Amino acid sequence: MADYPSTVAFGIDIGGSGIKGAPVDLMTGEFYAPRFRIATPHPATPRAVSETVARLVEHFDIGPDVPIGIDFPAPIIHGVAPMIANLDKSWTGLNVRDLMEKQLGRPVTVINDADAAGYAEVHYGAAEDRDGQIIVVTLGTGIGTALIMNGVLVPNTELGHLEIDGHDAESRAAASVFERKNLSYRKWAKRLQRYFTHLEMLLNPDLFVVGGGVSKRADKFLPFITTRAPIIPAELRNTAGIVGSALRAAQEAGTFTLTPQVKQRIRTYRDDARAKGE
Ligand code: BGC
Repeated sequence: MADYPSTVAFGIDIGGSGIKGAPVDLMTGEFYAPRFRIATPHPATPRAVSETVARLVEHFDIGPDVPIGIDFPAPIIHGVAPMIANLDKSWTGLNVRDLMEKQLGRPVTVINDADAAGYAEVHYGAAEDRDGQIIVVTLGTGIGTALIMNGVLVPNTELGHLEIDGHDAESRAAASVFERKNLSYRKWAKRLQRYFTHLEMLLNPDLFVVGGGVSKRADKFLPFITTRAPIIPAELRNTAGIVGSALRAAQEAGTFTLTPQVKQRIRTYRDDARAKGE
């Protein structure tokens, strides 16, 4: 059985194409060991997905004291997914936490995928240590959002489903639409502009952070988007969901606390890593 320091927790990201996991060093926000990925089974039923999650956990052979956090592409209210947009419909109304706990035989923390990614960006990434109201928007198959106020997550915002001009916003502006319709960056940015203008009018955040796989090409579309608040690309990219779920799980299990001293050590580490161009 793998022995990890008490500052390590395990994060799992459940996505439409892959289910990925890694132990995370919460003092650095980096993977403690390389990530492992298994293709998402199709159809992505609760049974098939929970069995895949179990394979992932077995792969790392993690001890019983290591907290496990799982992120999921749906709102998660006390463990339950009341609706699901982009995975098998049989998840609707299911208690995802109970299902995973039964499958793994141990407690887990389950949170929304955008919440996990946003929370990681605020504590280790692009919005590190920024106070005020921050909205993280993940552009992928759908649009996910995280609302964070002074470092505290307000979960399950689902602002990717805002109705704009009679459409569900994610059906017009998600990265999957950009790819499927073969839009130019400029055309896609126009759709994103409409979305961000509306979001800003409603919520007036201090900062927007844009994540999801496409954020690594943010220089191609963010310059075309104008908002009153600064709008910046995410920093952690495809590790954010895993890092954020691991952090939430450790906080919930009480094995890790972001004290001012801990935050200072993380900040010093991250600043050094950035300076070295990592
Ligand atoms: C879901 C959200 C999720 C987002 C990104 C949306 O369709 O409703 O819960 O965060 O996609 O996966």
